[in-house]
Amino acid sequence: MNKVYTGKTKDVYALDNGNYQLKFKDDCTGTDGVFDPGANTVGLQIEGIGRENLKVSVYFFEILKKAGVKTHYVSADIDNATMEVLPAKVFGKGLEVICRYRAVGSFIRRYGAYMESGTPLNAYVETTLKDDDLGDPLITPDGLDAIGVMTLDQYAQMKAMTQKISGIVKDTLAEKGLDLYDIKFEFGYYNGEVILIDEIASGNMRVYKDGEIVEPTDLTKLILG
Ligand SMILES: Nc1ncnc2c1ncn2[C@@H]1O[C@H](COP(=O)(O)OP(=O)(O)OP(=O)(O)O)[C@@H](O)[C@H]1O
Ligand SMILES: [Mg+2]
Repeated sequence: MNKVYTGKTKDVYALDNGNYQLKFKDDCTGTDGVFDPGANTVGLQIEGIGRENLKVSVYFFEILKKAGVKTHYVSADIDNATMEVLPAKVFGKGLEVICRYRAVGSFIRRYGAYMESGTPLNAYVETTLKDDDLGDPLITPDGLDAIGVMTLDQYAQMKAMTQKISGIVKDTLAEKGLDLYDIKFEFGYYNGEVILIDEIASGNMRVYKDGEIVEPTDLTKLILG
């Protein structure tokens, strides 16, 4: 198997059948040994967390498949912490798309002069460029078009998919008494279509229960439990 990419938390291999294999590692992003899903450096290892992140991802990808949403997910081998996926082309050097139902985190750091933390937002979508050195800068749809990363039409498809997928995740969590505040996705291009790629793990979302934030490792237990 040919390794095509070494990521911070996953490695990507090319399979003989043309698909990719994602290997979920036990490396976690964080700083000074403290787990921080939003960080851009690997800070620690947590035994078994790769497999747990894969399980949560499979849980949501299966739900999305039933809902008719196109994703890269093909199959998974939980014991080996691997997932077979369709080989997508990322947009530019990669994008992150965030959907927000409550104003927290970087939204409040930017716009906190205009609303209080926790104010409801109506599936607000924003996009960042994946660029660790620049701290993943925000970019507008016009910006993506101007730098040749995606067309306005592709952006519209990606935004609509983001809101649909986020709604499905939100409803799924609500059935467990959990409240989705925000969530981050990656999209790619495959066979002429925009599809959801990467992972949907506990570290990709902020979830609250009874007004208190649920830490990612606890969230995994609540989702799978
Ligand atoms: N179906 C797919 N086709 C092509 N690339 C994919 C696919 N699914 C995921 N990827 C890419 O595989 C890589 C997985 O690496 P990993 O999750 O460790 O993130 P990273 O690139 O190091 O950075 P970050 O965690 O900040 O996003 C990502 O770059 C992601 O864009
Ligand atoms: Mg990643």
